[in-house]
This record gives sequence, C-alpha cells and structure tokens, in this order.
Amino acid sequence: MMSAHGKIKLFSGTGCPDLAEEISNYLNVPLSGRDIVMFPNENIFVKLHESIRGQDVFLIQTTSSPVNYNIMEMLVFLDALKRASPDRITVVIPYLAYARSDKKDQPRVPITARLIADIIGVAGADRYITLDLHADQIQGFFSIPGDSLTAFSILSDHFREKQLNDAVVVASDLGFAKKARNLAAELELPLALVEKRRVSVSTEALTLVGEVEGHDVIIVDDEVGTGGTMRNAVQIVREHGACDVFLCFAHAVLSPPAVDILADLNIREIVTTNSIPISPEKRLPNMVILSVADLLGEVIQRVHEGSSVGEVFRRYHRYK
Ligand code: R5P
Repeated sequence: MMSAHGKIKLFSGTGCPDLAEEISNYLNVPLSGRDIVMFPNENIFVKLHESIRGQDVFLIQTTSSPVNYNIMEMLVFLDALKRASPDRITVVIPYLAYARSDKKDQPRVPITARLIADIIGVAGADRYITLDLHADQIQGFFSIPGDSLTAFSILSDHFREKQLNDAVVVASDLGFAKKARNLAAELELPLALVEKRRVSVSTEALTLVGEVEGHDVIIVDDEVGTGGTMRNAVQIVREHGACDVFLCFAHAVLSPPAVDILADLNIREIVTTNSIPISPEKRLPNMVILSVADLLGEVIQRVHEGSSVGEVFRRYHRYK
C-alpha cells in the first residue's frame, strides 16, 4: 500500500501483540521485524530490522500493565523510529494509561495525562490514534493531531443484536453520563444514572436517578479498574428491582480484585474489548471480548490514504 507518505509499515510493541497481529491481518500488511531487549540494568533497547526511510509508520502499543514499562518501551520505540527517517509516525494506543490524572483537583498534584501526551510527541510521534479516552478533553493535551475513537460503536452493535428491547442503560457514574446517553440513544433504550456523593471523608452515598424496576440493565463505563465502581452500581440497581444485569466497558484494566468482584456479582454478560490483553486466568465464563482490530485497522488505512475517519463512526455519532 502506497500513499503520499510512502508505504504502510506496521510495528508492534510488546503491550498487545495479539491485537497487533489481528490489525496486520485486517490490513494485509505484515508486522515489521524489530528486536526489543531489556538489559540487566533494566534499560530498554529497540532495533528495527529494515529501513523505513520515507515510509508511513504505525506503531501499535497499548499502555496497560506493566504500565510504566509499556510507556517507556513505546517512547524508546518512537525514538528508534524517528531516527530512522520515516515520512510520518503514527502511534496507535488502544488504551492510554494515566488518563484519569487529567486535572489538578487538589493542591500539589501532577496532571500526568498531559505529561504523557507531551512525551509521546517529544519522542517522535507525528500523530496518534487512541480509543475511548477517559475524558475527551485529553485530546487537547496533545500538540500533535490525532484520532480519538470509540469502541462503543462495536459494543452497541453487540447489544443491538441481543434485542434487549425492555432494558435500561445505566451510567455507573456521572462522569460517563453523556457517553451512556449516546449508547442509550443508539440502542433506543432509556437511561438511568448512578450518582456518587461523598458524605464524609470515608463514606460515599449512592443514588440511582431513573427507573430500573422490572427491567434488565446494561451498566456502562469506560473502564473497569479494581471493580469497585461496577460493584456499587450493580448493588444499587438490584436494590431498585433490576432483573438481569449486563456490564459493558471499553477497557478491561482489571486490577486486583476486579476479577474476584466480577466473578461474585452473578452478571449475565460482561462485554468488553481487547484494547487491553486479558490473560486466560482473568477470563470469566460470562465474559464476551469483542475485537477492536478491524476498527483500528480501518482507521489506519484511512489515515494512510488521507480519507475520512469520521465516516467510520457516522452512524454511531448521529446523537452527539
Ligand atoms: C472513573 O471515572 C472511571 O470512569 C471508572 O469508573 C473507574 O476507572 C473504575 O475504577 P474502579 O473499577 O477501580 O472502581
């Protein structure tokens, strides 16, 4: 494949090798060879196997656990790419870590999402592609152009096929209300919201805004970390008479004890994506893992050709 930016060259870090392989299959472009070595002193070294001079390079690297290693590997990789004189480098980050640190909400704390956005550009990326940022405003932290995509187009297709005509979409916290509303509109279902309010230093009160009694519910969020937010949401919808509970989230961070919590919740289906690799021991029998490979592959293709990326989401975005 050749465009004004040369040929597509695809590289994968070690963060999400299976997803990178699937993207490579979608594009029918092989992953280019590289060595990634961690020396005994923990310094990371990357060497490309072939020339990329004048080419259109895409580096696929998710920044899930081990988060700090994966970030550093991405940066070292970008530096190796930059110094090999390609025409353009796009970093494809299915899950962007540190995105929750997006504001100075108490004295003397960092805004790490801004730092990460800065160092990605400094390391050599000309563009970025990512999925379901914790907050859309993080796009503004990058000084390079990018495409901030959503996997909810894929997740909503899954639920549409299930024809849960009498279900309610529930946002697990107010921060996700707008995206939950988009999903509810897309599925033509009503919306309810879980509101969390701090009542003292150590206690939080939960309120459910909306009706779930006698309905199946689809609880949605951008990610599941330790699982606490989902556990609370499941508890409150059940207290309000919900029937079957489905969970839907883009990023399966699944830090301990999330898998234990999810396993105990008696959920009908846990629907997520492979933006983060989910190891076999974390895969629960009721988990459905949808692939974002075709979506990312299609967007890579369009970025390469210089054609519209918005078109890919035209149907999903009509409610925005
Ligand atoms: C928070 O704003 C996010 O949208 C998620 O609700 C949060 O990351 C989930 O974290 P945990 O699973 O640890 O409660």
